[in-house]
Amino acid sequence: MARIPNAGLTGRMIRHPFLVTGGTGKSGSRVVSRLKDKGVPVRVGSRSSDPPFDWTDRDTWDAALEGVEKVYLVPFDGELLTRPFVQRCEELGVKRVVLLSGRGVDVPGYAGENSGAGKTHIDGEDAVRTCRPEWTIIRPAWFAQNFSEGFFLDAVLSGELRLPAGDGAASFVDAEDIAAVVVAALTETGHTGQVYEVSGPRAVTMAGAVAEISQATGRTVRYMPVAPEDFVAELVAQGWSRGDAEDYADAVSPIRRGMDSHISDGVQRALGRPSRDFSDFVKRAAAAGTWQD
Ligand SMILES: NC(=O)c1ccc[n+]([C@@H]2O[C@H](COP(=O)([O-])OP(=O)(O)OC[C@H]3O[C@@H](n4cnc5c(N)ncnc54)[C@H](OP(=O)(O)O)[C@@H]3O)[C@@H](O)[C@H]2O)c1
Repeated sequence: MARIPNAGLTGRMIRHPFLVTGGTGKSGSRVVSRLKDKGVPVRVGSRSSDPPFDWTDRDTWDAALEGVEKVYLVPFDGELLTRPFVQRCEELGVKRVVLLSGRGVDVPGYAGENSGAGKTHIDGEDAVRTCRPEWTIIRPAWFAQNFSEGFFLDAVLSGELRLPAGDGAASFVDAEDIAAVVVAALTETGHTGQVYEVSGPRAVTMAGAVAEISQATGRTVRYMPVAPEDFVAELVAQGWSRGDAEDYADAVSPIRRGMDSHISDGVQRALGRPSRDFSDFVKRAAAAGTWQD
């Protein structure tokens, strides 16, 4: 008898692609890899993908969504585009949406009043909760990969990370864990209507984080806490717009105010295993040569 291919995932062959917006970013690229490993056809949605997808150009949305069954939605901070995009998903027959949001969206006073990301996530969560497709929301802590691929990388390489984070600590989540939760939510049953707040298993101060990186790499990296107004002035002097600089300072302020050190249980709830420790991330990134010149 001919061998029947193992449909895996949902017990059937998947023909319709999954769209991963932000598919070249920290969580999205890992979701793309994990879905491909499972044999799921994936369409990357970013400005550099084919077809190109640009949040700010609605004429690109339909091509990205054509024939798509499920979407991992990494939003565009600072604008309220998740709602119209989710509406378009609904109109074009998308069956499931997994939304990346942010920890603290439900905590009064967490984000600064002008936080662009906060507004995007609050409106985006509301849009997803009221849409027809099945939905899951992921609320991550600060990503560990900010030190290796994101906001903090240049500073780490320069040897000094200056931030208005005071002595605060954050329970950094590994983007690999975010991706694992997202892929579970996209490919398994039992995650619909769930909100997974995900973090690492312990809080790490900025000084502690760069000390671990220093120890793993042999580089000298130090953390220098700066006052929020000085931080904004420094970024403006480097050519940032005042709005973007204030947004960055706002985003960091929950760490300084002690609001980002708690441990969230979303990885355990979604995957039935503990989250990865920051040290594990540092060892992997160092072994991959991330912080070498
Ligand atoms: N980083 C964190 O610690 C953290 C923590 C909590 C929540 N979040 C949330 O996670 C989301 C992603 O943030 P991130 O900083 O981690 O970024 P990221 O996902 O690492 O990178 C951004 C992604 O969006 C794409 N992109 C940028 N501009 C775009 C546009 N105009 N149209 C289409 N795609 C565009 C980029 O690809 P191209 O450049 O190729 O277009 C890239 O794939 C945000 O909503 C943020 O609030 C982040």
